[in-house]
Amino acid sequence: MTSTSGPRAPSFLQIEDLSTERIEKLFSRASEIKEGSWNQSLQGRQIVMLFSEASTRTKMSFQMAAQRLGAQCLVLDDALKSSQSKGESFSDTFWTMHSLRPDGFIIRCNGSEPLSELAEASQCPVINAGFGSFSHPTQALLDVFTMKEHFSSLEGVKVLFVGDICHSRVAQSHFKLLPRYQARVGVCGPENFLKGVEGDVTSFHQIEDALQWADVFVGLRVQLERHEDPVGFDRGEYVQKFTLDEKRLKILSKEALIMHPGPVNWGVEFQPEVGNDSRFLMWKQKENGVYTRAALMEMFFGEKL
Ligand code: CP
Repeated sequence: MTSTSGPRAPSFLQIEDLSTERIEKLFSRASEIKEGSWNQSLQGRQIVMLFSEASTRTKMSFQMAAQRLGAQCLVLDDALKSSQSKGESFSDTFWTMHSLRPDGFIIRCNGSEPLSELAEASQCPVINAGFGSFSHPTQALLDVFTMKEHFSSLEGVKVLFVGDICHSRVAQSHFKLLPRYQARVGVCGPENFLKGVEGDVTSFHQIEDALQWADVFVGLRVQLERHEDPVGFDRGEYVQKFTLDEKRLKILSKEALIMHPGPVNWGVEFQPEVGNDSRFLMWKQKENGVYTRAALMEMFFGEKL
């Protein structure tokens, strides 16, 4: 049910919503912000953050960026304390917040909600902060921004995703973004984690082969909360075959990057020694999340870039 009528606003729900030219503008603005060029471009804006799935870094980095740009955030992130606990639907929750006349929405939800329908009917822009297993475009943007800080061009750079690919919204968004930069994409994990992977992707079943191939190693968490049979996951076998540990770190090129969207389950996808490796960029990714999300909010919630 749509609660309003009036002009619609462009939203950012997926990588396809931005041309490569606009992504380059966004990265350029993110770099300026990183160098200290914060301004009050969102002064007076009221942004609703509607999070019906758990988040630490996405939510906090959006909030940090919004506040540094002068916006204020209304955060609704605990369904148990909202009227959703009394049976109100996600859509009605959205339209209730929409009735308050915010300037923009940042939404994370579990993939069963009609996110694109809501965004299409909304009179203010909606930014996707993670949609089930389907998409997490702002994570892909900040990851590529981070990669571009290290490689003069991503053309031919081999980016390897290791782990639970089929449940990873981060991987799905990267599959859309990385080919725009002529990067090569590889995946590695148990057969049942690679289901549905299609397109120009190189699949590896032996981590040692994948490590020799990769210029960028992206670890992905096993998303047990999205598994039909979470108890069927054999953690011991997974660790033995796919964890990144001291021995496997030696196979990876000295110039490679090691990334992870977070959160990490230490001892599963990465052993603790990875955190001390000079190639490990996860904390840089978190920091860059603030700059790229700030630039994105300026683009969608502020004056046009
Ligand atoms: N990478 C990521 O989306 O982390 P959060 O779930 O903590 O936001």
